[in-house]
Amino acid sequence: MKIFMDTADVGEIREAVSMGMVDGVTTNPSLIAKTGKPFNQVIEEICGIVDGPISAEAVSPDAEGMLKEARELSGIHKNVVVKIPMTTEGLKAVKICSAEGIKTNVTLVFQSLQGLLAAKAGAGYVSPFIGRLDDICQEGMDMVGDLLAMLRNYNYPTEVIVASIRHSIHVVQSALLGAHVVTLPFKVLDRLVNHPLTDSGIEKFLADYKKIPKP
Ligand code: G3P
Repeated sequence: MKIFMDTADVGEIREAVSMGMVDGVTTNPSLIAKTGKPFNQVIEEICGIVDGPISAEAVSPDAEGMLKEARELSGIHKNVVVKIPMTTEGLKAVKICSAEGIKTNVTLVFQSLQGLLAAKAGAGYVSPFIGRLDDICQEGMDMVGDLLAMLRNYNYPTEVIVASIRHSIHVVQSALLGAHVVTLPFKVLDRLVNHPLTDSGIEKFLADYKKIPKP
């Protein structure tokens, strides 16, 4: 399973890269706004740190506008993947991007069939948002299982990026379902690494090491 970082914070991305954990990065306008830096500058910086797919989101409501943005964003770096929202206009834009060789990540997917349609339009990736479904008392992971089964039934090459991940159990479930990618906020990655029994074990070994007589 590939791990993408779901952040626009280059400090967090560098830290995760140094741990050998980063296969790609996903951003959205909310994450980029938090950096306080210009949009394209952030995407360029991230492309300079990670040699993998970097998602940058188009915000136009219509296909024509999305396409214009997609062409500009994909010109920033060869690794840029254009995030397109799951709408009728979005599907039109994905179809043309696919024909032009611009890789897309269809975002804001909340229903397995939306993901299937995105794959049919030619999306490289689809991003089911599971945490936001859990937030409204729907089992987000059910959608991921259904979507993966549908894509496998018809041999679509589209990869599923499990997004809006809130905690470690989402990551375990994604791996068990065989999701292609999880995109993680840095704090979730940190929680995956750390365990209190590891910490107390290290402390005990260090305390005992100090008791060993020096030659
Ligand atoms: O990748 C999607 C993600 O950025 C949305 O996460 O936590 O805002 O639902 P969240």
